[in-house]
Amino acid sequence: MKKIRILALSGSLRKCSDNTALLNAIYQLAPEHIEVRLFNHLGELPLFNPDLENEPHQALSALQQELSAADGVFIASPEYAHGISGVLKNALDWLVGSESFPNMPVALFNTSPRASHAQAALREVIKTMSGNIIEEASISVPLMGSGLNQEGIVSHPEISAALSSALHEFVNVIHQTRMAN
Ligand SMILES: Cc1cc2nc3c(=O)[nH]c(=O)nc-3n(C[C@H](O)[C@H](O)[C@H](O)COP(=O)(O)O)c2cc1C
Repeated sequence: MKKIRILALSGSLRKCSDNTALLNAIYQLAPEHIEVRLFNHLGELPLFNPDLENEPHQALSALQQELSAADGVFIASPEYAHGISGVLKNALDWLVGSESFPNMPVALFNTSPRASHAQAALREVIKTMSGNIIEEASISVPLMGSGLNQEGIVSHPEISAALSSALHEFVNVIHQTRMAN
């Protein structure tokens, strides 16, 4: 079976970020044929400027390469002042022109169910970029204030089951798409 490769983007640069911990937990829960690759360099991207689109930049090239090699994208972002984090929006702005994004399966994970404004905004951005949001895989996991780190998430029975199920639903869509093409 061909490996499935998923690019994971966390909108938080915090060392103890819930969003990053969630994506790392999914990486840990994924079976061997699914490779979840967290892109750790969003903080190194320049601020989006269309004038710089053809200038070489290491972190940007790495992100573009990761996207073009990916079968799907996982996104988890905090809400700041009722919006998407600037870190994530900046990265998405750099990817708007990418040929790889249209029809890309995307799952949106939310670690704070009260963060509804950012999720709605993120959804709108991804739709505008013609990403294919996989609803069955886009779940809310209430981590805020839980004190759970990556290991705690993985060993939490209900949360790890919900994440494994989301991963399974997501990968099913990728398999179906592969069979249809
Ligand atoms: C400056 C700032 C603004 C925030 N604004 C909101 C907000 O508008 N709505 C909300 O639900 N949470 C808000 N939060 C809480 C963060 O979304 C929350 O701490 C989140 O878990 C951080 O994600 P992380 O652990 O991945 O860094 C805010 C936090 C900060 C620091």
